[in-house]
Amino acid sequence: MRALSSIRTRMQRLRGAEATSPAAAPPALPRGDRQATVIAVATQKGGVGKTTTSVNLAAGLARYHGKRVLLVDLDPQGHVGTALSAEVKPGGGKLSDVLTDTARKREVLEVVTRTGIDGLEVTPVDGRLGAAEDLLGTRIGKEFILRDALEITRSHYDVIVIDCPPNLGNLSLNGLVAADQVLIPCDPSPLALNGVHALVEAITQVAGRLNPEIDVLGLLLTRVDGRNTTLNQAIMDELRQAYGEVLVPVQIGINSALSKAQHEGRDVYAFDPLSRGAKQYGELASWVVDQL
Ligand SMILES: Nc1ncnc2c1ncn2[C@@H]1O[C@H](COP(=O)(O)OP(=O)(O)OP(=O)(O)O)[C@@H](O)[C@H]1O
Ligand SMILES: [Mg+2]
Repeated sequence: MRALSSIRTRMQRLRGAEATSPAAAPPALPRGDRQATVIAVATQKGGVGKTTTSVNLAAGLARYHGKRVLLVDLDPQGHVGTALSAEVKPGGGKLSDVLTDTARKREVLEVVTRTGIDGLEVTPVDGRLGAAEDLLGTRIGKEFILRDALEITRSHYDVIVIDCPPNLGNLSLNGLVAADQVLIPCDPSPLALNGVHALVEAITQVAGRLNPEIDVLGLLLTRVDGRNTTLNQAIMDELRQAYGEVLVPVQIGINSALSKAQHEGRDVYAFDPLSRGAKQYGELASWVVDQL
């Protein structure tokens, strides 16, 4: 009987019906007056520029378009934190706690931290996200946890960018289910092309079963080597044939300012605003604003 009554108490708490004490049920977060578009940056292939794109798209939207932007690092590698280490302010909490808390519904907003870039906030590096990936597998409704945790959060931002890990596991799946749009970076290599095919298949399944609203924002060619024209042309032909209608009209070339900026923990606009990388990611941010 005691077990049953404690289950009832927990259920009441989860429903928010009768809080047993103020400590057990913290006050609900206030709702903002915005409604963010959620953009997942995803593909299965590693090293194609997902994090570089997430960071510099998010920073570009905040710096040059006055958007309030949240950058969610869903990758256990924590590269967003590294790529912006010089900008991220101390504080924030762990996204893994939000995703794995079974006692109450949590919001991503509870764990975000500010950056030195006006309008840009991020989720901090979280070494426990890898373990969270496994724990998520055991939760009922495991695909919807991030989406639910963005319910109030998204009312505080104009855009939420999610940097996904290089696989199609539970974390990426949560990213896709939470997303309105998916931006797919792809470098001109046959392996990257395979990653795109796998992701498109996953998006199709997510659209059919879990998130009918999901849409492809575009396929972004990254790390384009201007010297390797033969390979570029062959891959471009295949890409145009398969995904011509979603190819982003901006391409990102290989530019050392992008990797150096990442190494210094700053976005490319702060590192070298006149670089080709800054110009091209700036154009991408403008194109994205036109699509919103
Ligand atoms: N356009 C570019 N020009 C030069 N270097 C780049 C460019 N884009 C990315 N890089 C570099 O390539 C490496 C991989 O990029 P990034 O971390 O963005 O890829 P990723 O897809 O997020 O990788 P992972 O799959 O491991 O998460 C990094 O060192 C980054 O600085
Ligand atoms: Mg990455």
